[in-house]
Amino acid sequence: MNLIAAVDENWGIGRENALLYHLPEELKYFKEKTTGKVIICGKNTLLSFPGSRPLPNRVHLVLTHTDFPENEQMLVFHDTDSLLQKAASFPADDVFLAGGESVYRQLYKKCRFAYITKINSSAVPATAFLPDLDRDPDFRLLSQGERQVSQNGIAFCFCLYENLALS
Ligand SMILES: NC(=O)c1ccc[n+]([C@@H]2O[C@H](COP(=O)([O-])OP(=O)(O)OC[C@H]3O[C@@H](n4cnc5c(N)ncnc54)[C@H](OP(=O)(O)O)[C@@H]3O)[C@@H](O)[C@H]2O)c1
Repeated sequence: MNLIAAVDENWGIGRENALLYHLPEELKYFKEKTTGKVIICGKNTLLSFPGSRPLPNRVHLVLTHTDFPENEQMLVFHDTDSLLQKAASFPADDVFLAGGESVYRQLYKKCRFAYITKINSSAVPATAFLPDLDRDPDFRLLSQGERQVSQNGIAFCFCLYENLALS
């Protein structure tokens, strides 16, 4: 499986159960990468989606200790082992670890590639973080896209990391 996240200059990913910045280009990128695929997320992240509902045209594997309604688009798991067993029934490249902090921390080492949007800002103080892949000896930066400037003036770039431990 692969990881997808948008991080600020400090590897911050969120605050008050929301994203730090609204980047239409990043949302489009996330949509392109994950539509028709499977996303793994924690309950808080699921609740942070519009209307607290699953995103269209994606299967969601959701982690929670609580009872949570299931349907064909959203399967609920109470531990990572059972979630990973289900995730293994899909093609590995179709499964994306999509946050938030607690779920990234538990499962990021199981991801072969990490699609990281790096946002050139730390203006909004983050309370949720992704582990810093630049300081993780298992991960190396494979490619860094051109610096772009969003419609709202925030600079960002699309990066790809590889987990050497799984190569
Ligand atoms: N920038 C990005 O790319 C990005 C992506 C995703 C999320 N985010 C941000 O990340 C933040 C949310 O992160 P978070 O850490 O608070 O929430 P989270 O990881 O989305 O969800 C945490 C919840 O997941 C459940 N959970 C986690 N591990 C579990 C396990 N092993 N077994 C059973 N249930 C488990 C628990 O739910 P219960 O309490 O119900 O048991 C836990 O409270 C938000 O600000 C969000 O916007 C950012």
